[in-house]
Amino acid sequence: MIKYINTLEGITPQQLEGFFVGWLNPLTQEKHLELLEKTDYFWLAIDVESNKVVGFITAISDQVLAAYIPLLEVVPSYQGKGIGRRLVELMLDTLKDYYMIDLLCDEEKTPFYKKFGMYKTTAMMFRNYDQQGGK
Ligand SMILES: CC(C)(COP(=O)(O)OP(=O)(O)OC[C@H]1O[C@@H](n2cnc3c(N)ncnc32)[C@H](O)[C@@H]1OP(=O)(O)O)[C@@H](O)C(=O)NCCC(=O)NCCS
Repeated sequence: MIKYINTLEGITPQQLEGFFVGWLNPLTQEKHLELLEKTDYFWLAIDVESNKVVGFITAISDQVLAAYIPLLEVVPSYQGKGIGRRLVELMLDTLKDYYMIDLLCDEEKTPFYKKFGMYKTTAMMFRNYDQQGGK
């Protein structure tokens, strides 16, 4: 069974295993927890049996008009079970009072986000790869 929470009470870095797959310079589990502590909004998917975090989504916001969703990931062995969908639904509901809700994704992920009423636009980005492991 998967439970969805938006509190870090009792969450330890040891529970945050298996994320940032394919990243050249992935965050440590300690940095991942720090990121969750500092972000404006987050939801976690927890496997109740193993007590591991198996998915997460974050958002940052100006608290007036705009919110941005930088991270969504489900641990590979838990993908395809509806966890990513549930995390996006929970976050979109959390952000429902904002005017702008934006995210960046690869072309191949656009069908996934279209399911939630999101639509494609043009975006610009910059990446400081030296800092991929975090500030
Ligand atoms: C993208 C991701 C979060 C999806 O999570 P998931 O738990 O596997 O997705 P779900 O099982 O909830 O799938 C929900 C729906 O989206 C579809 N879907 C899932 N991944 C998809 C993809 N890459 N492209 C298109 N559709 C996709 C599913 O078929 C499902 O459709 P349905 O509800 O009509 O049957 C997950 O694949 C992941 O963590 N990928 C690696 C990290 C990543 O790419 N994050 C997004 C960064 S923008």
